[in-house]
Amino acid sequence: MHQPALLVVKALSSVVALGANIICNKIPGLAPRQRAICQSRPDAIIVVGEGAQLGINECQYQFRYGRWNCSALGERTVFGQELRVGSREAAFTYAITAAGVAHAITAACSQGNLSQCGCDREKQGYYNQEEGWKWGGCSADIKYGVEFSRRFVDAREIKKTTRRLMNLHNNEAGRKVLEERMKLECKCHGVSGSCTTKTCWTTLPKFREIGYILKDKYNEAVHVEVVRASRLRQPTFLKVKKTQGFRKPMETDLVYIERSPNYCEEDAATGSVGTQGRLCNRTSPHTDGCDLMCCGRGYNTHQYTKVWQCNCKFQWCCFVKCNTCSERTEVFTCK
Ligand SMILES: *[C@@H]1O[C@H](CO)[C@@H](O)[C@H](O)[C@H]1NC(C)=O
Ligand SMILES: *[C@@H]1O[C@H](CO)[C@@H](O)[C@H](O)[C@H]1NC(C)=O
Ligand SMILES: *[C@@H]1O[C@H](CO)[C@@H](O)[C@H](O)[C@H]1NC(C)=O
Repeated sequence: MHQPALLVVKALSSVVALGANIICNKIPGLAPRQRAICQSRPDAIIVVGEGAQLGINECQYQFRYGRWNCSALGERTVFGQELRVGSREAAFTYAITAAGVAHAITAACSQGNLSQCGCDREKQGYYNQEEGWKWGGCSADIKYGVEFSRRFVDAREIKKTTRRLMNLHNNEAGRKVLEERMKLECKCHGVSGSCTTKTCWTTLPKFREIGYILKDKYNEAVHVEVVRASRLRQPTFLKVKKTQGFRKPMETDLVYIERSPNYCEEDAATGSVGTQGRLCNRTSPHTDGCDLMCCGRGYNTHQYTKVWQCNCKFQWCCFVKCNTCSERTEVFTCK
């Protein structure tokens, strides 16, 4: 993978004692405000890197069968590489990284890894009268995680462009989806699980769940256009394209301003790496099938013999005896 900046962040986790100035100046692609946050919170910046990585990994998982597999040619930043076209793929990457950062920061707070946050104690000790339980345990402080993601991730949107509005909307959509999926976990107390009292707390959802929801939202992403309402005719807000009057997209919609390229060929202008060399499935009718994946260019067949240990049996005493099994297999890659 090509995420040098992230790798730098990772490598730095072991040398955090070096001092914030050195670390923060070494991370490429930070906006000035991000560098300032980095300097005041070097411990959080490592978690930010992990959160961005969480988002990128999920993106690669969700799009593993697509022509676009979450890779991009383009500028390298702390969040991996950015897509130049304001496409629905770009929308997805922004939403998933903003959610990943909020998720990672919140998890780190709950585990006591960050100095300025912890469990959400706001409701601690209060009763939920209708359902008959008490707030207790360690509730995940999602508000802190979301606010940190907002301050840090959104700080890279400097230029007053339509793309900025798009990015900010998608960042917020990712975080909103995460907030809406927070879970309640409960524990019973009393003799032999009698549940005379019950305490509950909020926990983070598995990030995979957020990945699936955002993937659905990607499939239903909304094409928007800009409205320049201010006197200076600067981009002011986004409206759904091709609707009469103004209709704003919903808070949790992913939005895009440009059509996607087909991602068949490498093209630096659109950030497409192309599908040459990608594995494909000869019999699948879906996007992982060689026809669609290779865009009609055809595919190469590679035959090899897979060898492994099999039918292992324990022998008295004391060793394990196995047979060697083998199988001819083929894989296909796009021309
Ligand atoms: C918290 O810190 C511990 C010890 O360094 C680490 O193993 C764990 O993964 C961290 N948790 C989070 C959510 O960052
Ligand atoms: C995505 O596709 C490109 C181009 O074929 C390839 O170089 C890259 O390794 C792939 N990335 C992943 C995560 O599969
Ligand atoms: C290829 O696609 C077919 C049909 O969708 C599926 O049954 C099969 O498991 C796939 N093979 C691999 C290696 O993924």
